[in-house]
Amino acid sequence: MTHPIRRAPVPRPGPGRRRRRAASLGAALAALTLGLAGQFTAHPAAAAENHVDNPFAGASFYVNPDYTAHVRTSAAQTSDPGLRAKMRKVGRYPTAVWLDRIAAIGGGGEAAGRRSLADHLDLALAQKRRGQPITATFVVYDLPGRDCAAQASSGELPLTQAGLDRYEREYVDAIANVFKKRKYRDIRITAVIEPDSLPNLATNTADPECARAKSSGIYVKGIRYALDKLHALPNVYTYLDFANSGWLGWDGNLAQSVQLYTDVAQGTAAGPASVDGLVTNVSNYMPLEEPFLTDPDRTVGGNPVKSSTFYAWNPDFDESDFTRDVHRALVAAGWPASTGMVVDTSRNGWGGPGRPTAESTSTALDTYVAESRVDRRTYRGLWCNVGGAGLGRPPQAAPSGYPDSHLDAFLWVKPPGESDGASTDVPNDEGKAADPMCDPGYAPPGAGGNKTGALPGAPLAGQWFPEQFAMLVKNAHPAVRPGGGTDH
Ligand code: GLC
Repeated sequence: MTHPIRRAPVPRPGPGRRRRRAASLGAALAALTLGLAGQFTAHPAAAAENHVDNPFAGASFYVNPDYTAHVRTSAAQTSDPGLRAKMRKVGRYPTAVWLDRIAAIGGGGEAAGRRSLADHLDLALAQKRRGQPITATFVVYDLPGRDCAAQASSGELPLTQAGLDRYEREYVDAIANVFKKRKYRDIRITAVIEPDSLPNLATNTADPECARAKSSGIYVKGIRYALDKLHALPNVYTYLDFANSGWLGWDGNLAQSVQLYTDVAQGTAAGPASVDGLVTNVSNYMPLEEPFLTDPDRTVGGNPVKSSTFYAWNPDFDESDFTRDVHRALVAAGWPASTGMVVDTSRNGWGGPGRPTAESTSTALDTYVAESRVDRRTYRGLWCNVGGAGLGRPPQAAPSGYPDSHLDAFLWVKPPGESDGASTDVPNDEGKAADPMCDPGYAPPGAGGNKTGALPGAPLAGQWFPEQFAMLVKNAHPAVRPGGGTDH
């Protein structure tokens, strides 16, 4: 995962009109075809449900037992009984399953600690309650030349035509072949598509690898291919990653991104109908809300709050502002108003001891911002195993309180406790490398001389990091309430 780069505003293209698919006919035909292909039964099988607007509404969420097992191990090693009880509760929360390499589709079996995609879907069926839909979320994350602006999550496929061919055949086709099995048609499968990839094309082409990802067309071709394959399945819902407020919140970055996403969607077989929604803050730490900084144009010491060093003229201080602005910009560019937004709230709670309880009274702008913001990072571009972070809002369908954001759900896309990356080279066959942003001693450019604040001793991206998990549970906001119903 990568850091934000700021750019000057660019002019926005004129809007084009497009329409979202009315899913019912396509879904009914697909169901009929699948029904005929399936086993003969004396009674006609019930038709699969239509593609709905918000797949999470009224549905339960698949809980990944592999995640529960990691949490249990951490809980068993925790001596504080209060913390242990909180951990056990968190282990029962739904998290996304990352298909972060071709081998993740086949799985390594339970002994290897990793279930196959089919195993997960079979388990989702077992968790499904009669009469209630269930959603299961998978992250599609294996583009050739993945994570072009960083090293921590570089992938297994090279940024070449051969890499793209493998992505299409051995990865996307293989996923679609499992998703399309008739027995899974009653699972609402949601796919989070390729975190960071289009945002990197929009803002990070000063990086040569990202420039090649763009000029070769490989990222866009891969994503369009995934959208075409997945949208063709009526019970699959596609959510394109749209970075976060601290990356694409600047007006110029937002305009440029909307243009790119519109172009990508228009180039798919079904056009913009192939995108059900956008997901923000994947694996990042941007708060859902800055409760004491609600107006970016408010002046302190004669200057607007957004002009502070921390916000650097970015008017989106949090994900509730950002999702509102993204949705508004997409609709202005011709996207349907039904396009849904999702926020990854896994690690954006910021409930630690440093959390402010009131707005600062300072008249010095940077002091005012530092004392008022719940985001305790010294720089918004810090993204690797950030110290002081806490769990955010629990996964929830159709959360209220942010009507302009058009939220389909809060999800825990990044499983809290899984590392963002390592700062030293650890031998691996996934393509992952050491990343200075994960080094606690590194002072990155743009951070005003501050160090990363990354937790020391982190394992490779995606691997269980017990110290981080314990910190996130302790600093959860809202606090975890063991025994307290389905809420934290
Ligand atoms: C990182 C890793 C990936 C992992 C994911 C979720 O992006 O590169 O392997 O699955 O995080 O923890």
